[in-house]
Amino acid sequence: MKVVIIGQGYVGLTISAFACEYFEVMGFDNNSKIVEQLNKGISHIEGVEGATLQKWIKAGRYRATTRGSEIADADLVVIAVPTPLTGERKPDLSFIEAACKTIGENIKKAVLIINESTSFPGTLRNYIKPAIEKYSTSTIEHLYAISPERVDPGRGDFNQKNTPRLFAGLTSEASKRTREFYSKFCDQLVEVSSPEVAEAAKLFENTFRQVNIALVNEFAQIAHSLGINVYETLAAADTKPYGFMKFTPSAGVGGHCIPVDPTYLASIAEAHGAPATFIRRANEVNLEMSDYIVRRVVADHGGNLQGKSVLVVGVAYKPNVADVRETAAESVINHLRSQGAVVSWHDDVVRDWKGESSSPLQGADIAVVVTKHDSVDERKILASAPYVFDTTGKVKGAKGL
Ligand SMILES: NC(=O)c1ccc[n+]([C@@H]2O[C@H](COP(=O)([O-])OP(=O)(O)OC[C@H]3O[C@@H](n4cnc5c(N)ncnc54)[C@H](O)[C@@H]3O)[C@@H](O)[C@H]2O)c1
Repeated sequence: MKVVIIGQGYVGLTISAFACEYFEVMGFDNNSKIVEQLNKGISHIEGVEGATLQKWIKAGRYRATTRGSEIADADLVVIAVPTPLTGERKPDLSFIEAACKTIGENIKKAVLIINESTSFPGTLRNYIKPAIEKYSTSTIEHLYAISPERVDPGRGDFNQKNTPRLFAGLTSEASKRTREFYSKFCDQLVEVSSPEVAEAAKLFENTFRQVNIALVNEFAQIAHSLGINVYETLAAADTKPYGFMKFTPSAGVGGHCIPVDPTYLASIAEAHGAPATFIRRANEVNLEMSDYIVRRVVADHGGNLQGKSVLVVGVAYKPNVADVRETAAESVINHLRSQGAVVSWHDDVVRDWKGESSSPLQGADIAVVVTKHDSVDERKILASAPYVFDTTGKVKGAKGL
C-alpha cells in the first residue's frame, strides 16, 4: 500500500516515520528545500532522526517529492498542512485548499483521504470533500476521514504510538479503513460518532490549555500584587489530589496550536451566533503577558530601559525545540525595544531567527528568560547579567513572576 502524506513538517514527517514501518510512504511537500534535504536523509524535525529516514530511504520505503504527478498511484492520503490564522487572526484554510487541489488534480482512483490538520468542526465535510471534488477532473467517490493529530513535539513520554488517537469517517467504510491504517502504529484508537466531534474535541483540548494558561498568568499577576510567591501557592494548591490541575505561568503561549486553535473554535462559534467570550479573553490575557513582564523589568530599573543591553534567553516557544512560531519572545523583544533597550537574544537550539543570530550568554545589563532549554546551564544564565528576570520559574535565584 502506498501512503502519501501531504506536508512534511512536525506532524507529517513524524507520521511518515511511523508509517514507513508498514507501508511505502511518499512525503509530498511544496517546499523544495525541505524535500531535497529529506531525500538526503536529513531531518528538520525534532524526534525524527536522520538515521531513521536514511534507513527507510535505503529500504525503498520513503521518498519525498514536490511533484503532484508522483502521488497519482496513492492508496491512502494524509493531509498534514498548516492551519494558521490570517493577518486579521481569522482561520486560514488556504493551505488545506492547496492540498485539496493537489489531491484533486492528481489522484485518479478512489482512495481514503484522512485529514490530520487541525480545523473547526465541519472542515472535512463542508470544505475538504467539496474542494477535492471541485479540483478533480472526473467524478471519483473517495473515502474521507478525520484524525486530528495530538503530538507534542519534543516530548519524551507521549508520541504518536502511545497517545490515544481520535478518528471518524464520513462513512462507516471510511471509519473502518482509517482504523485499519492507524492500528498498525497506534496503540489506542478512539472512534467518535462524527468527524465534527473529532474536530471539535481537538480544538477543545487546546482551548482548555489556552484558558488555563491564561488563568495562571492572571493569577501570577494577582499573586505578585499581593506579595505572595506564585510558585509556592501553585505547589500548595497542587497537593489537592482531585479537582485541580497545575499550570505554570509564562511569557505567553506559542507554537502552531495553543495560540491558534482556540481562535478556530471562537470563529466557528461566533459564525453560529454562540458567544466565545471566555476563549477570546484568555487569548488576550496570554498576549498581554509580554507587556506585563517588560513593565515589571522597567519598574525594577527606575522606569527606564534607555540604552540598557538586554539579553532575551530562549526564543523558541517552548523548551528543547527550535520552533519559533507565535513565540512570546517576539513580543517581549518588541516591548523591550520600544522602551529603548538594546536587545539581543541567546538560543543555541534556534541559532538563527528573523535575520539575527544567537548572541553569547554573557555581558548584558539585563537578562530576561523566556524559554529555558535543558541544555542551557542555569548558572550561566545567572552570570550573564547583574539582573536576571525569569519567566519560567526554572532559574533559582533570579527575579521572576
Ligand atoms: N506541530 C504540532 O505540534 C501539531 C500538533 C498537533 C496538530 N498540529 C496540526 O497539524 C497541522 C500541521 O502542522 P505542522 O506543525 O506539522 O506544520 P509544519 O509547518 O511543521 O509543516 C507543514 C508542512 O506542510 C508544507 N506545506 C504547506 N502547504 C503545503 C501544500 N499545499 N502542499 C504540500 N505541503 C505543504 C510546508 O512546507 C511544511 O513543511 C496543523 O493543522 C497543526 O495545527 C500540529
